[in-house]
Amino acid sequence: MLDFGCGTGLLTRHLSSVVRAVVSVDTSLAMIEGLAGKNLANVVPVCAAVTTQLLRSDQRLAGAFDLVVCSSVCAFVEDYPGTIATLASALGPGGLLVQWDWERAEDDEESLGLSRSAIREALSGAGLEQLSVQTGFSIEVEGNEMAPLMGVGRKAAARSGQSL
Ligand SMILES: C[S@@+](CC[C@H](N)C(=O)[O-])C[C@H]1O[C@@H](n2cnc3c(N)ncnc32)[C@H](O)[C@@H]1O
Repeated sequence: MLDFGCGTGLLTRHLSSVVRAVVSVDTSLAMIEGLAGKNLANVVPVCAAVTTQLLRSDQRLAGAFDLVVCSSVCAFVEDYPGTIATLASALGPGGLLVQWDWERAEDDEESLGLSRSAIREALSGAGLEQLSVQTGFSIEVEGNEMAPLMGVGRKAAARSGQSL
């Protein structure tokens, strides 16, 4: 599993107990040091920006991931569709990409978060299939009703006879 924008590893810690191995990436050294301090046995913390070049050259990120998770990070990246395309390229056949961000209204250019159409377009533009973009619940934050919008897409499974 790849935890993109892992921060100090709140999600990494939870998921590391149910997956074989985790590579957790963040551009902030302070965040990665926080995660490294947790000494999780099957977690490799990486301080880097995930690029196509890095995926090719860094052994820690080589190979195909079964799952890429992005928890509250996609709204912060400079090129959201490009980032999703890069992350989707790191998935193996049948692999799943799951992101969540605060929902932003379609006509709102100001608030933090991502709109449903932006997420759907990015996942679909990255070639992912079986898309789902929905909210599970909402919570009140500083007087505002906020809903985590979860986007899910799957990479096509390998067809029989296709080499992996
Ligand atoms: C709100 S925190 C979420 C942290 C963690 N995923 C969680 O759910 O607790 C956003 C994180 O994204 C990281 N981040 C922002 N832009 C990034 C990028 N381009 N590549 C990787 N990490 C990034 C930040 O350093 C920060 O740790």
